Amino acid sequence: MPYSVHAITCGARIAMLTETKFSLQQFDTKDLESVIEINRTCLPENYASFFFMDTFQNCPSAFRVAQVGTQTVGYIMCRIEHGFSDIKRLKFVRKGHIISIAVMPEYRRAGIASELVKQALNALQEMKADECYLEVREANETAIKLYEKLKFSLARRVSHYYADGAEALVMVVTLDGNDLSSQSQV
Ligand code: COA
Repeated sequence: MPYSVHAITCGARIAMLTETKFSLQQFDTKDLESVIEINRTCLPENYASFFFMDTFQNCPSAFRVAQVGTQTVGYIMCRIEHGFSDIKRLKFVRKGHIISIAVMPEYRRAGIASELVKQALNALQEMKADECYLEVREANETAIKLYEKLKFSLARRVSHYYADGAEALVMVVTLDGNDLSSQSQV
């Protein structure tokens, strides 16, 4: 079922409401070009096409795209990894890892990224991941707010994580026993 996107433009005295529908689905090879374009438009961390395809093969159900009409306007891609938990001491866990997420500027603040993350977390939970991790720049307050709203919390910091030397905040949410049932699936 498509979601409703409510974009509100406020003038001094006039409020205008427009409604657009968006839908989410699993990435398909035909989406590759659009995903690469969204990635290059929205993020400084860009990847070669083989990396997108390799990530898709690692975790197909957690690579989701958002569409408005026939246009692809957002994506999320994840991997499944294994390692020691940052929140459960000395526990070796199956980790979901959000590698990249972006929504085209003109379609932001309409709930698209929230739904992409929720569906990815559902997919990672179905793939028996115990926890989900991501890295985010400290300066990226918008993304941090998004993740905090979805119950991610700070696990640790990694200095010089990004190519420009910026530090990463590593954020985590638990998936085992986490009730994702209120989070919609399309
Ligand atoms: N200012 C403040 N908070 C914001 C915000 C903004 N401009 N945009 C999103 N948020 C927060 C809010 O808490 C929002 O919930 P609310 O609308 O109920 O208040 C919540 O995030 C969810 O917003 P949503 O509409 O689902 O996000 P989005 O579709 O606009 O996409 C990003 C959010 C971060 C993916 C998008 O801004 C983007 O593509 N940014 C560039 C790429 C990027 O930074 N990716 C993350 C790298 S770690």
